[in-house]
Amino acid sequence: MHIHDLIGIGFGPSNIALAIALDEQRQAGQAKDALFIERQPCFAWHPHMLLENAHMQISFLKDLVTPRNPGSRFSFLNYLHSKGRLQDFINLQTFFPSRHEFNDYLSWTASHFEHQCTYGEDVFEVLPETDNDEVAYLRVRSRNESGAVQERLTRSLVISVGGAPNVPECFAGLKDDPRVFHSSHYLRELAKQDAPKRIAVIGAGQSAAEIFLDLHGREGVQVDLISRAWAFKPSDDSPFVNEIFNPEYTDYVFNNPTGQREALLQEYKSTNYSAPDLALIQEIYDVFYQQKVTGQARHRFRRRHEVTGSEAGPEGVELNVRDLETGHTDITRYDAVVLATGYVRDTHKQLLAPVADYLPEFAVNRHYQLYTKPEFKPAIFLQGSCEPTHGLSDTLLSILAARTSEICDALDQTTALYAPSPCKQEVTIS
Ligand SMILES: Cc1cc2nc3c(=O)[nH]c(=O)nc-3n(C[C@H](O)[C@H](O)[C@H](O)COP(=O)(O)OP(=O)(O)OC[C@H]3O[C@@H](n4cnc5c(N)ncnc54)[C@H](O)[C@@H]3O)c2cc1C
Ligand SMILES: NC(=O)c1ccc[n+]([C@@H]2O[C@H](COP(=O)([O-])OP(=O)(O)OC[C@H]3O[C@@H](n4cnc5c(N)ncnc54)[C@H](OP(=O)(O)O)[C@@H]3O)[C@@H](O)[C@H]2O)c1
Repeated sequence: MHIHDLIGIGFGPSNIALAIALDEQRQAGQAKDALFIERQPCFAWHPHMLLENAHMQISFLKDLVTPRNPGSRFSFLNYLHSKGRLQDFINLQTFFPSRHEFNDYLSWTASHFEHQCTYGEDVFEVLPETDNDEVAYLRVRSRNESGAVQERLTRSLVISVGGAPNVPECFAGLKDDPRVFHSSHYLRELAKQDAPKRIAVIGAGQSAAEIFLDLHGREGVQVDLISRAWAFKPSDDSPFVNEIFNPEYTDYVFNNPTGQREALLQEYKSTNYSAPDLALIQEIYDVFYQQKVTGQARHRFRRRHEVTGSEAGPEGVELNVRDLETGHTDITRYDAVVLATGYVRDTHKQLLAPVADYLPEFAVNRHYQLYTKPEFKPAIFLQGSCEPTHGLSDTLLSILAARTSEICDALDQTTALYAPSPCKQEVTIS
């Protein structure tokens, strides 16, 4: 069976950026046999949140490659040039393209690596392949849409699968009810609803804000925005604070002891989480203000409220909603409920469950590589699930260009020597 140097799970921005970095190495005469496996049938960047007026929350200069290699043909500027829109884009005078345009840039980049990516396959587990009491390779198992299982062997693995929906416990019983869905499936699931009138949106982050405004633009829809917080608070993207997204800040976070890393994450959480753009907050405020002017209370902002229970019935989904100030709970019926409740980032642990005994606490080194026991030879890297050790930039686009070259450097050591990398020798297993 063929053995790949590298398999990447997922072909979103993180692994496309890696494909670019590997391509640069290939041009420098260091080719690696890399294959990426993506579960979607073709490239799409959070496709069910591609709302009409949604814009990037990051400068286009932080594309997949520019911060590392501004001369790359895979830059956003070269994409604009090749599409004949560079002059017009300059006239827009913005750093923040629409999400539609950035999705198109990412698709355009991904299309250059079609030969290295197999679409429509969902990786469901990674098994150890042993040889003389050592784990020599990894067996990556995936399933295509018709249920056929495919197996491939690799010397190293880069897991870049993004976040999975965070579904609050009180909705766990409704996970198969089509009227309750997460923001990551918003457009797809909304289209399946039968003219919903009353919709609850849970959360007060960027997703909740964008979805509220999208629903406001749909005739006849009444929205209850249900938020534990008292106010929508804007994301802090002021310049000094924004320096936490510079690649060198990753060293600063990583070199702090664990407790202090947590404190740093808390201190700067408002740059990213539960934090919509100020312009969106102003738009939402205006919607509620105009309701006061007209006296027609179409939507409600149920601030400091929390859902404590949910039940599905033929007439709708009933939510127990508790007022966190008074402690009073009421029951409200909705035609649909959108969970704009953020993401969890532990999918890698499910995929790697069969090799978990070789991976002490799933701990990573500075190069995003999982520490392993000495008898385990393959190298495994994580992109997007190292926020606790590497900081708030880890789930974003900010450091993709830098991170992928750091991973390439570490891969060079592992694939060239095909022996334990220095980080593995550092490990002490209690
Ligand atoms: C709506 C939305 C907008 C955002 N906008 C911004 C922004 O403007 N700026 C910013 O910096 N960040 C933004 N983010 C954060 C986002 O995490 C990054 O932009 C980026 O998508 C991270 O890339 P990724 O490749 O790590 O993860 P993802 O983009 O999530 O890609 C992961 C890929 O892996 C695939 N996959 C998952 N599991 C498997 C499996 N088992 N087998 C095979 N394939 C699998 C998925 O289908 C997906 O294509 C946004 C997030 C959301 C939800
Ligand atoms: N256009 C864009 O660029 C765009 C669009 C959408 C998303 N994004 C990005 O995607 C990432 C995630 O944003 P997001 O808005 O999806 O998630 P988020 O920022 O994590 O916000 C989640 C919201 O859900 C609430 N919540 C979580 N668990 C809850 C529970 N059990 N009960 C009640 N409320 C709960 C949180 O409330 P608390 O604060 O009380 O915990 C918070 O208001 C961010 O990086 C964001 O920038 C970008």
